[in-house]
Amino acid sequence: MHVRLSVAMPQYFDDPVAASAPRTVVVDVPGARFEMQTDRAVFSHGRLDPGTAVLLGSVPPPPTIGAGLDLGCGAGPLALTMALRSPMLDVVAIDVNERARTLCAANARTLQITNLTVLGPDEVAPDQRFDVIWSNPPVRIGKSALHELTLAWLERLADTGTAHLVIHKHLGADSFQRWLAGEGYRIERTHSSRGYRLFQIST
Ligand SMILES: C[S@@+](CC[C@H](N)C(=O)[O-])C[C@H]1O[C@@H](n2cnc3c(N)ncnc32)[C@H](O)[C@@H]1O
Repeated sequence: MHVRLSVAMPQYFDDPVAASAPRTVVVDVPGARFEMQTDRAVFSHGRLDPGTAVLLGSVPPPPTIGAGLDLGCGAGPLALTMALRSPMLDVVAIDVNERARTLCAANARTLQITNLTVLGPDEVAPDQRFDVIWSNPPVRIGKSALHELTLAWLERLADTGTAHLVIHKHLGADSFQRWLAGEGYRIERTHSSRGYRLFQIST
């Protein structure tokens, strides 16, 4: 009998195995300018991801109060920006990658941000609702996992809340838009640049 063994290559969303190699990145976007540390085995080591930059360059200001979510925070460019732009907003940043969570929390501490909590996805209180969600979602987990993840967190949008997601057209942005509209959400393309689509989603 033959047993096929497949060797899984580590992905940015797995728990990290690589030795740490911190690199500083300057985030200079509307409403915020700061430095953050990035690291190996965390998404976008050594640079601000271009999709993240598109979101931060065009997204409307976050609400001044209430609760905000960064779904899949990585080193934290979205969550840190949201927290700096709206210091009275309670920002929650979640990621399955422990090194990403540690890095995001350390970046918040360095920047003396006190309105940001970094959690594992399972640690978010079941009744927590969000007035705003920002995400550069983990499209590489596969279409059905991405759909499941998206629906799970959009369910937590407050009635008047909005989500802003960035996805590249080559990674299924347009079919994602059609799929989510079919699920009954209002989804509008608010910006497009360098192949990245920025979507605004509400119930
Ligand atoms: C495209 S990266 C974006 C990271 C960061 N927001 C940025 O813009 O640089 C997506 C992130 O989602 C995380 N992720 C993957 N699956 C997840 C899940 N089920 N729940 C929460 N985060 C997840 C990955 O670890 C990764 O950090």
